[in-house]
Amino acid sequence: TARTKIVAGNWKMNKTVAEAVSLVEELTKELAGFSGCEVILCPPFTALTSVAKLLHSSPRIQLGAQNLHPALQGAFTGEISAAMLREAGCRFVIVGHSERRRYFGETDAFLREKLLAAVAAGLRPIFCVGEELPDRESGRWPAHLRSQIQGVLHGLPVDVLSAIVLAYEPIWAIGTGRNARPEQAQEAHALLRKEIERLHGTAVAARMCIQYGGSVTPQNARELLSQPDVDGLLVGGASLNARSFTSILLSVQ
Ligand code: G3H
Repeated sequence: TARTKIVAGNWKMNKTVAEAVSLVEELTKELAGFSGCEVILCPPFTALTSVAKLLHSSPRIQLGAQNLHPALQGAFTGEISAAMLREAGCRFVIVGHSERRRYFGETDAFLREKLLAAVAAGLRPIFCVGEELPDRESGRWPAHLRSQIQGVLHGLPVDVLSAIVLAYEPIWAIGTGRNARPEQAQEAHALLRKEIERLHGTAVAARMCIQYGGSVTPQNARELLSQPDVDGLLVGGASLNARSFTSILLSVQ
């Protein structure tokens, strides 16, 4: 199955509106005519509308948010709904990033609600899974990944599953400069696809885009992407700079 590659930049809590605008101006200039893959930018909430305006003339670059709350509206101080993100121009939203799970205690049940709310509002979730270093070192990582997939994706309707982009982000590789080796990524992606197949069948599994994330750089992007089950990248630090993000995108062919 030929899957369209999707590369997303997760800016995390970085960039003022002014900085976001100047980065996106540079990116749209450098990527004029680029059609190697789908590109998603995930700025902080405050920069979404400004970035959306700049992306109007760049149909290959889409907007994503980093988080959402599952409720439609209401007394959830500090939170933001799927409809608000759609209105701001988002097509994607990251769900279950390890930083949200770790620092904000997000549970499988809550992430499930988020996925449902996102898809109901027309957003495609980028759903993140990944193991900690001790699970990698002890060889327990396959069980950990299976339980993350089962705990959140089990029994979800097929339209929700089909909208999801899965991201494998080993926690030991995030922001550490130590990326998974391409064969480690491939092994994990193949396992994730198998687990999706077991839960939801071959067609959904074969179509699902599975991104790799964790210390992706212009130097390692091509080799990671050359793996058969690596269908894209979720880039943190290297997406904050136009030159490095562009050079990662140009390695997708
Ligand atoms: O969402 C992105 C990841 O957490 C990866 O971050 O590329 O800075 O390691 P990183």
